[in-house]
Amino acid sequence: MDLENHVEKILWTEQQISHRVSELASEITQDFTPQNNAPAFVGVATGAFLFLADLVRKIQLPISVDFIRVDSYGLGTVSNGNPRIPFDLKVDVQGKHVILVEDIVDTGSTLSCLIDHIKSKGASSISVCTLLDKPARRKVHFELVGKGKYYCGFECPDYFVVGYGMDFAELYRNLPYIGVLKPEIYS
Ligand code: PRP
Ligand code: MN
Ligand code: MG
Repeated sequence: MDLENHVEKILWTEQQISHRVSELASEITQDFTPQNNAPAFVGVATGAFLFLADLVRKIQLPISVDFIRVDSYGLGTVSNGNPRIPFDLKVDVQGKHVILVEDIVDTGSTLSCLIDHIKSKGASSISVCTLLDKPARRKVHFELVGKGKYYCGFECPDYFVVGYGMDFAELYRNLPYIGVLKPEIYS
């Protein structure tokens, strides 16, 4: 069965995503242009890899780009535990404006952990740029740091979505659009 036949419904096409990514990039470029300290983009691996790659190519500022990963295993619902960060930042974010880049915010626990972690490294502000947000599923509250802003591409209905970086059992990240799989694939 070829890849297209795994998808039941497309929620956002490649073109719609690209258009929204351009809008987000120009908003961020405008917001950070007055700063003399260009922002540090931090993509949350693995899901954010395509969004990060497309977004940073449209940013008209001298930025740094890095990745971080957090294990959702044992994350629980609160961020005061000991989340495992199997790979950490290479860039020194002390005194920097950090923009955390996510494919999707669901319960909020990933961002809650990462914001605490990056805050402890002395970032002067922490913003979040997520392509999708599923507000209906939020369980963990997170707070931006300093003058950090929240950038969001689209509000996502409460479906399990795949594509454009997002996986089901590590597959489908390579779809250029975002969609929902056929029920027989999930079961
Ligand atoms: C997914 C997604 C976000 C996170 C959102 O990552 O990419 O990072 O879950 O969920 P939350 O708001 O409930 O924390 P996942 O942990 O599946 O890892 P992946 O990016 O490698 O797929
Ligand atoms: Mn992720
Ligand atoms: Mg995943």
